[in-house]
Order: sequence, then structure tokens, then C-alpha cells
Amino acid sequence: DKGPYAHYMLKEIYEQPGVISETLEGRIHKGRLLEASFGHETTALLDKTKHVQIVACGTSYHAGLVAKYWLEEVGVGCSVEVASEYRYRKVVVPEGSLLITISQSGETADTLAALRDSCSKGYIGSLTVCNVPESSLVRESDVCFMTRAGTEIGVASTKAFTTQLVALRLLMIALARRKGLTPEEEETMVNELHSLPRQVEVVLELADKIQIMAEDFSDKHNALFLGRGAFYPVAMEGALKLKEISYIHAEAYPAGELKHGPLALVDETMPVVCALPDDPLLEKVLSNLQEVRARGGELFLFSDHKVNIGLDRYQSLTLADIYPGTAPIVYSIPLQLLAYHVALLKGTDVDQPRNLAKSVTVE
Ligand code: M6R
Repeated sequence: DKGPYAHYMLKEIYEQPGVISETLEGRIHKGRLLEASFGHETTALLDKTKHVQIVACGTSYHAGLVAKYWLEEVGVGCSVEVASEYRYRKVVVPEGSLLITISQSGETADTLAALRDSCSKGYIGSLTVCNVPESSLVRESDVCFMTRAGTEIGVASTKAFTTQLVALRLLMIALARRKGLTPEEEETMVNELHSLPRQVEVVLELADKIQIMAEDFSDKHNALFLGRGAFYPVAMEGALKLKEISYIHAEAYPAGELKHGPLALVDETMPVVCALPDDPLLEKVLSNLQEVRARGGELFLFSDHKVNIGLDRYQSLTLADIYPGTAPIVYSIPLQLLAYHVALLKGTDVDQPRNLAKSVTVE
């Protein structure tokens, strides 16, 4: 039942504050991670983990890419690969490596095959971050860490993605503890997560403004999404959402790669979307965007109060100040809404985009 919403996708976007709270429920309390809630088998596996290999497809792969930045920040090595490539590669597994699969459905054929093949590859074990309790990935992995997004019907994944990021952030905190995370640092990270549902609600209140931005996309054929650091995978996810439901060709690039090719595409007809929070790479991104403006590219920016954009022409939406740890989650929301409103204006089938299935159970 879609309730008051025109589409399941929109309903699922709006469910995010609630399902993020659900995913945190019983796992954090008063500035601490409740690791016992992970189960003994999981914590024993985390004790042995020196490196993480993440394998997933589509949106779930993007969640894995964000987690790589998080894990490396606390000293845990991490590789991420799409399952369809990983499966057919001769992988060299580092000592103490944990295989993490990420999947909404738990039935994605390539991800499942990657898990099955991993048994002979020397991993210390397998953990799945999954949304469907009875799924094949849950049954066949050594341990699971469930997201609690509820049923996701829209083919374009939204609430599954943000709850995957929450789950991965919790796992990161657990691994960080084993790397000497101080109680004060843990408190900061946990409190950021605790306030996340409210932060997401505040972004959802900007929907009307995003709807207006979307009007400039409906006659476009291409769009470029830029980001740096953990916002690069956020840009990848934004581009995937737009292409999936509006059929506009959208590509994501690390902003620093612009000059190495994609800048040649930029002219007045090219919208360029960028998440631009106040973070250590801000100045670098701004100088990349300057290049875009110099070629007439139209800029659509998502930023916060602390950022002085200082470019000549652009459209921007200012988000409330957010926390660095959870910012990639918060900045994913406006990109979901942008894709939704562009698709709506184009009159495409938002919940059932052409040629796509919700779950890819064949190779
Ligand atoms: O069920 P999974 O998370 O394993 O699915 C993986 C992809 O097929 C999925 O994320 C797909 O890319 C979505 N349609 C993206 O919105």
C-alpha cells in the first residue's frame, strides 16, 4: 500500500528516518555501541579481522565503496568489488580477511556465487549485510548483520541503501574498537548515528526546492555527478538513481578526474551535480567546479552553511550542518529526491523502470 504517496519509491524515501532508527535499535545506547547485540559468532569473527573484502552489485556496491573510506580511516584495510568481476578474477586474499557481501534482496546471483566461491579462497569467514531474513545470502553466510529497511518495492533502491550504510558504520565502529578507538571517539560516532534520523527528516523537508531544481533536468540528455572522498560513491549512487528511473544518461566522476577527460563533455547543456559539504577536500572540489563554470556547465550543488561557494552561476541547496561521519548518508537523500522528481517530470515508470527487475537472480 502506497498510502498518501504517488509511488513506492517516494514512500520508501520518506520511510528512511524510521527505518534508520529501526536499524540502530538495540545496537547503540547512550553513546556506546552495544556489541553484544551482534551475537557472539560475529564478534568472534571481528576479533580475527585484519582486512575486509566487500562484494556486492549496484547500489549495494556503492554502499560498500562508502564503507571503504570509513574502514580505512580507522586503520582497517578494505577492498570493494562488483560481484560479477570479483567472481571471475583470481583473487589474492590477504591474511585475516573477512568477506562481506552486501545485498538488499539476498538473492543477487553474482553476489551469491561470489560467496559460494569464497569458501575455497582462505577467508576467515563471511558476513552478509542483508535486508531479507530468509534469503539465500543470510542462510549461506557464516554470520549476518540485518538491515531493517522493511520491504522495498521500488526497483530503485533507496531505504535499503541508507540502512546498509548505517549497518556498515556500526560494523566499522566495532572494528575501530579493536584498533584502539577511545570511548570519547566512540561516543562521537555513536551520537552522530543517533541523530541521523532527525538529520534525514530535515533534508526531506527540502523536497519542494529539489522539485524546482528537477525542472532544469527534464530536457537534458546527460548529467555529470562529481564528488571526492566518500562523496564520490555518493555521486555514483546519485547518477545510478537518475539513469535508472529518468533514463537520462548520468555518469559519476571523482571531481579530481575532470581534467583527465570528462571536462571535454562540459558545455551549457551539461548539468553537473555535486555534494559539497564543508570537509577537508572542499577547496579542491571548488576549484574543480570552477573549471566546470568556465566551460558554461550548469552547477547543481548540495552544500552546508559553512561553505562559501564563491562561483558565478549555480543553483544550490543548503543543508543544515551535519556530522562528518554520517554526511555521506545525509547527502544521498537529496540525490534520491532529485532523481525521483526528474523521472516524475519525464513521466517514466518510477517504480518499474523499463528493462529492470527488482532482484537480479540470473547472471
Ligand atoms: O538486492 P541487491 O542489493 O543485491 O541488488 C543489487 C542491485 O541489483 C541493486 O542495488 C540495483 O542496482 C538497484 N536497482 C539500484 O537502484
